[in-house]
Amino acid sequence: MEEKTRIKTGIIGCGTISDVYMTNISKHYHNLELVWAADLYAEKARQAQQKYGIPCAGTVEELLADPEVELVLDLTIPAAHYSVNRQCLEAGKHVYCEKPLALKFSEAKELTDLAASRGLYCVSAPDTFLGSGIQTVRSIMDSGRIGKAIGFTANMTCPGHELWHPNPGFYYRNGGGPMFDMGPYYLTALVYLLGPIQKISCFSIKGRPVRNILGKQTETEVPTTYTAILSFVCGAVGTMTMSFDTWKTRLPLLEVYGTEGSIEVPDPNGFSGKVEIFDGNKLQETVNAVKDPFPAKLIAMMQNQEACTEEVPSEFAADPDPRGNMRGLGASDLAQALLTKRQPRVSSLVSLHVVEALNAFEISARSGRAYEMTTTADRTEPMGKNWELWEVK
Ligand SMILES: NC(=O)c1ccc[n+]([C@@H]2O[C@H](COP(=O)([O-])OP(=O)(O)OC[C@H]3O[C@@H](n4cnc5c(N)ncnc54)[C@H](O)[C@@H]3O)[C@@H](O)[C@H]2O)c1
Repeated sequence: MEEKTRIKTGIIGCGTISDVYMTNISKHYHNLELVWAADLYAEKARQAQQKYGIPCAGTVEELLADPEVELVLDLTIPAAHYSVNRQCLEAGKHVYCEKPLALKFSEAKELTDLAASRGLYCVSAPDTFLGSGIQTVRSIMDSGRIGKAIGFTANMTCPGHELWHPNPGFYYRNGGGPMFDMGPYYLTALVYLLGPIQKISCFSIKGRPVRNILGKQTETEVPTTYTAILSFVCGAVGTMTMSFDTWKTRLPLLEVYGTEGSIEVPDPNGFSGKVEIFDGNKLQETVNAVKDPFPAKLIAMMQNQEACTEEVPSEFAADPDPRGNMRGLGASDLAQALLTKRQPRVSSLVSLHVVEALNAFEISARSGRAYEMTTTADRTEPMGKNWELWEVK
C-alpha cells in the first residue's frame, strides 16, 4: 500500500487571515491537502475556492458532512471558536484553530476533554513560536548558555487598533481587548520557553474608555491595559503588559533573564527576527580583570554592556519566507504528527493553559487577588528537522 503523505484539510472561515493560510498550504505545506472551504457566508468560501482551486466550497454543515475531511482549520472570529470547534469534534474531525481555542476556560476545557474522549486533536494557534526566532531562543536556553531562567518581561503596547484597522469595533467589545488579542502570542512563547505558569496577579484599566471607532465615539466594554506579575513553575517570575492605550514606549517586546545571561527574544507575533544574548560571565570576567577599586569596576561594568551583547545567528540556514509569515506551520506540524503518530508541537495542553491564563488576568484584576493556575502545560519538542515541513513548491 502507498504511504499516506497528506492530510485532507478543510478551512472554516474565509476572512482576512485565511488568505495567508490558503497561500501557504497551496504553495508550501505539502502534507496538507486543502479539499474544502466553508464560511457563514458560503459566497466567501466560493470566492476562495476559485482563487485557490479548492475542490469543494459551501456551508459549515456541508464541510462537516464530508467524511473525507480529516482536519479542520478554524479561522473564524474568536467568539465563534467554541461552537465551530465543538461541531468539528462532534463530526469526528481534528481541529487546528486560530487563537484562542475558546474565550472561556470552561469552554476550552470542554473542547479538549471532548477531543481526548474521541481520540482527536483540538489545538490552537499561535504557531509563530515554531519559527526560526523563538526556536533559536529555545535552543540557546536548552544549551544552558543563560543558566537557569529566573525572570522575563513581556510587553505589547500600542495606541489601539482603531488607528489602522478597517473594522476595529470587536477589539473593544467583550472577548476583545489587548490580552485576548495579543496575549496568546506572548503566553505561548513564554510557556514554550519556561514551562507552565503557576500564578498570575494582574491590574487593569480602561485607559481611554471612549474610543473613536470609525468616526463614532464608542465606550469600550473591556479594559485596554493589563499589567501583571506572573510566576512560573520553574521558579521564574516576570511582568507582562498588554496595552491599547500606550502612544510610545521603549519597553522590549520580550526578554528572558537567566542566572548567567539574558536573551532578547524576537517579536512573538512573528516567525523570525533578531536574537541577542547578553553574556553575564563575560561581563563578570571583564569587571574582575579591573584591578582598581570603585569607581573603576563600576565604570567597567557600565561601559562593557555592548561588548557582552552578541547577535546569535538563526538555527536555520535562512528564514525561508521573505514575508516572515509562515502561518499554517502549526497545522502542518499537526498533520505530520497524525501521519507519523507522534505528538504535535502545538499541544492541546498548552492551548488550554493559555485560555486559562487569559481568563486569569481578568479574574485577578477584578478580584484584586492572585490567581492560581489549575492546568499545566507541556514544553513541547523543538522543531529540529521538522523545519523542512515548509517546502518551496
Ligand atoms: N487578521 C489578522 O491579522 C489575524 C492575525 C492573526 C490571527 N488572527 C486570528 O484569525 C482569526 C480570524 O481573524 P480574521 O481577521 O481573519 O477575521 P475576519 O472577520 O476577517 O474573518 C473571519 C471569517 O469567519 C467567518 N465566520 C465567522 N463566524 C463564523 C461561523 N460561526 N461559521 C463559519 N464562518 C464564520 C466570517 O464570515 C469571516 O469570513 C481570529 O481568531 C483572529 O484572532 C487574525
